[in-house]
Amino acid sequence: MSAQPALSQLDAEAQKIVSKYDKKHAAVLPLLHLAQEKIGHVTPEAEQWVSQWTQVPVAHVREVVTFYSMYHQKPVGRHPIRFCTTTSCVLMGGEKALDHLKKKLGIQNGETTPDGKFSLEEAECLCACEIGPMMQVDGKYHGPLNEKKIDEILDKLK
Ligand code: FES
Repeated sequence: MSAQPALSQLDAEAQKIVSKYDKKHAAVLPLLHLAQEKIGHVTPEAEQWVSQWTQVPVAHVREVVTFYSMYHQKPVGRHPIRFCTTTSCVLMGGEKALDHLKKKLGIQNGETTPDGKFSLEEAECLCACEIGPMMQVDGKYHGPLNEKKIDEILDKLK
């Protein structure tokens, strides 16, 4: 795995982002995105860094990080998977598909494969019920899922 950049290496990009907004606090979300994209997850140091750039108290930055499921608070795999476990997807066969995915990856909700390739997070409705059961891999939506389709998606990423 490549070394993580120090947050200070992101200062120039942070400056550009902050300068786009009239109020510095509006840059909290994009700066958290930047830190997560470069580091892989949002560390306590990243929260501190965002706080310094935006003048938003670090406790509030922390609230944002814990509120939005898109921010990872611990390292995740190179291909983060979010699997919808809300009713509409469950009714369409989501549980069976999720069981298959877990078996295939050998991990449970909240875990990362030993090779660091995939991590799995069970998620609330991802607003793509029409393709349920569905999951999001690297930000891209896939569905309707069945065992064969899951195998194909994972094989392409191996
Ligand atoms: S219930 Fe699964 S995307 Fe909405």
